[in-house]
Amino acid sequence: MYNLNNDNMVLVIDHPLITHKLTQIRKKDTGTNEFRQIVNEIGGLMVYEITRDLELEDVDIETPVAPMKTKQLAGEKLVVCPILRAGLGMVDGILQMMPSARVGHIGLYRDEETLKPVEYFAKFPNKLEGRLVIIVDPMLATGGSAIAAIDLVKKRGVKNIKFVCLVAAPEGVTALRIAHPDVPVYIAALDEKLNNKGYIVPGLGDCGDRIFGTK
Ligand code: PRP
Ligand code: URA
Repeated sequence: MYNLNNDNMVLVIDHPLITHKLTQIRKKDTGTNEFRQIVNEIGGLMVYEITRDLELEDVDIETPVAPMKTKQLAGEKLVVCPILRAGLGMVDGILQMMPSARVGHIGLYRDEETLKPVEYFAKFPNKLEGRLVIIVDPMLATGGSAIAAIDLVKKRGVKNIKFVCLVAAPEGVTALRIAHPDVPVYIAALDEKLNNKGYIVPGLGDCGDRIFGTK
């Protein structure tokens, strides 16, 4: 039986800055402009943990004072893949920390009746195999969208995938871990539950609508 409390592939990044910023966007009166800015900021802050295990290689350089042996990032450029629409809200913040990352796009929306994900777009950089692909979506509710997005990326031969979200429901994390046990999950806050409409409680509402001002 899967036990979320005993899973070292799920990291809740409960840093005080992240918790504070999340509180701001959880408030129902926070407007679109501030909401959008803070989603990006949290995305950027999460990068430090998400990239903690990136590989480094030795390099010889010269500082203005002396030659030195130091290290730089090794391997292929990594790929950030937002799940549209809401995932787009985190991309700029992440790219500020990793400007040379490539970007893929995964278009999925959740059918309001069935809560099942519906795919409408997928575009990835060439030569995806061999790269680290970081899939980002602020909300992990039932887990259907995250599972479908990871399926899409795995079909293209990718072995090294991470999933990043701001707010998750335990139901979604459990479903995702069972479907893709090889994919580490990074979360800013693990909330209480889903309501009967599939919304995260207490959550922050409809993240896509709040980022893009569509409601
Ligand atoms: C939201 C969210 C996730 C999905 C999470 O997107 O951004 O993609 O719901 O729910 P799940 O875990 O139950 O699949 P939505 O379908 O509302 O699309 P949007 O971002 O285009 O508004
Ligand atoms: N999608 C959202 O934007 N919010 C939720 O609470 C659940 C799914």
